[in-house]
Amino acid sequence: MAESIPPVVQAFDHGSAEFAEWTPLLWDPVGAATVETVPPRPGERVLDVCCGSGSSAIPAARAVGVEGLVDAVDLARELLDQGSERAEGLPQLRFHHADATRWAPADGLPYDRVQCVFGIFFLPDMDAAAGHLVGLLRPGGTFAVTTWRQGSVDDVVGPLVQALTEETGRTFDRPPSARQAARVDTDVKLAGWLSGIGLGEVAVRLVERDVPITPDSAWRFVMGSGIRAALDGLDAPAVAAVHARYRTLMASTTVLRARALVGSGVRIG
Ligand SMILES: C[S@@+](CC[C@H](N)C(=O)[O-])C[C@H]1O[C@@H](n2cnc3c(N)ncnc32)[C@H](O)[C@@H]1O
Repeated sequence: MAESIPPVVQAFDHGSAEFAEWTPLLWDPVGAATVETVPPRPGERVLDVCCGSGSSAIPAARAVGVEGLVDAVDLARELLDQGSERAEGLPQLRFHHADATRWAPADGLPYDRVQCVFGIFFLPDMDAAAGHLVGLLRPGGTFAVTTWRQGSVDDVVGPLVQALTEETGRTFDRPPSARQAARVDTDVKLAGWLSGIGLGEVAVRLVERDVPITPDSAWRFVMGSGIRAALDGLDAPAVAAVHARYRTLMASTTVLRARALVGSGVRIG
């Protein structure tokens, strides 16, 4: 069935080269930390939604081994292609071009684990999506969600908004994903949200990663993220002007202090 592709997913597709540059710096380490927090066991069935290029799906596939299965689901074809290339030698890992909010495994069997790294807040109704995904777990199965801790990417995103406003006069409307992300951006809020969707044994762990940046690598970070959509409709000279202003604003920022929250809980009943 043809999927309609949301603008934020198109932004990830268009920014796939920039996204790939940040894969070894940030996406892979946080994906690995998510899997290590509550590791899947050999032979288990895992669903990884909003999988991108497989930063958490690949370590999960290594953990479950060839007796297990990882279904990795995303709507960004470019990122899925990157993931497939990186997953050589892991036949238990299958990438699917599909909408996470409507995904159901073809065999109808439940998963032992469902995980979603930096993706849950992009799903149009985060609570309904989580309910659907938890419903794909067996009772006792694990749901793991990784989110940004409050303020962690403000140092690189804030100057983009400022540059955009100053150069174009555009007002920047906070996207729905930012509002949803704000609901799960502290350990207390994330734990409360996981309990609220009916999970037990809820725990939250902080993952910290300091990444040295330059104004140009920071630009590629934002251009490889959903915020890229904020430049939609600008012509090339306008984008160049925003870029130049961003570089100036970022001149003295040398580190991205990335702080991620890995929340987990268990399906009851
Ligand atoms: C910030 S990226 C995270 C990728 C990966 N989990 C990682 O940590 O590297 C968010 C991902 O969510 C995906 N996404 C957004 N909405 C989606 C949907 N409805 N169904 C599937 N994937 C979606 C985007 O295409 C993008 O790849």
